[in-house]
Amino acid sequence: MVIPSTASLLKIDSRDAFPYAPSEGIKPLRNKWQELILAKNPSLGSAEYSLPVVTCGVTHGLSTVGYLFIDKTDDIIVSDLYWENYDLVFTAAYGARLKFFNFFKNKSFDIESFKVAVNSVPVGKKFVLLNFPNNPSGYTPTGKEGAEITRVLEETANAGNRLLVLLDDSYFDLVFEGGVMSESLFSSLANCHENLLAIKVDGITKEEYAWGFRVGFITYGIKNGSRALFKALEDKTAGAVRGNISNSPHSSQSIFLQALNSETHDKEKRANKEKIRQRYLRVKMTLDSHPEYLEYFESLPFNSGYFMCVRLKKSDPEKVWKLLLDKYDTGVICFGEKSLFRIAFASTPLDKIEKLFNNIYLACKECSRN
Ligand SMILES: Cc1ncc(COP(=O)(O)O)c(C=O)c1O
Repeated sequence: MVIPSTASLLKIDSRDAFPYAPSEGIKPLRNKWQELILAKNPSLGSAEYSLPVVTCGVTHGLSTVGYLFIDKTDDIIVSDLYWENYDLVFTAAYGARLKFFNFFKNKSFDIESFKVAVNSVPVGKKFVLLNFPNNPSGYTPTGKEGAEITRVLEETANAGNRLLVLLDDSYFDLVFEGGVMSESLFSSLANCHENLLAIKVDGITKEEYAWGFRVGFITYGIKNGSRALFKALEDKTAGAVRGNISNSPHSSQSIFLQALNSETHDKEKRANKEKIRQRYLRVKMTLDSHPEYLEYFESLPFNSGYFMCVRLKKSDPEKVWKLLLDKYDTGVICFGEKSLFRIAFASTPLDKIEKLFNNIYLACKECSRN
């Protein structure tokens, strides 16, 4: 019954695209993604983890975790710099309240603030959401900071709390400095404590430069988790997918799986990462070579991901933002109440980066005169 005018547009077999995929995703892709997670996070070792369950992109993965695990009265502990869509995904949809800890203190991860937030009373269920590389700051903790985060969570679990730690790994691997965590926190959390369920949500959106394909994954890890336990979690998750969207696009899953077999795939992926790294380096260089910018704005620490933030020091961020659009044809995301601009360096051509920051400087200068 496949319509030839549709099928002829695909280079893959119609059988790999037109029928429904299983709710949990196609098995060879789930196996392959697990293999890749283990290869990219070698400290995971040989313990038992769930097979990844396929979702319709990372957002849907996060939402599915909310559907399965969040009760209306729950707080979600998250850094004060966070992807704004969490408000819709978790608060608007499931009634959870976001409870913030400070992301930075003295240009480092604020471990004390994190510790206070996860050890709040009463002891019981705690839902923690961590996103590294972070949107919007572009920060990934150093190896030492990552170890401290794990230690704090382990202590919290030891104190009798039952922890769900959701890792939004959307920007996994886009790390541009040495000394920064190169593995997901899933590596140290998935096998950390029997009171701590680690949930890794990731996808091909950014990791594989396939934004519109809508393929994400949910993977579970818990200390001493048995195959039976993980199978139950996989089935529950597949049930949640079935009850909401039935299943994720079969064509996208098949195309990506086949692309992985291509001899040039890895090289092409490395070339893309290098392009983003060059943009990252150009931002660093631009900021270093213009100390005059510091009168008006300074950057927050950043070492990874797609974005970085600058904090305006004396100009009204909304005014500068509008002037940038109207006069300088420059678009940034403005977090007015925090006096922050988020800058998407990953998608800014190399030769426009200096101009971008100069425009911000000129707009700030102009606004502070008014
Ligand atoms: C932190 C974070 N999580 C999730 C997503 C959504 O990913 P997807 O497009 O796969 O739904 C984004 C995309 O902007 C993001 O920045």
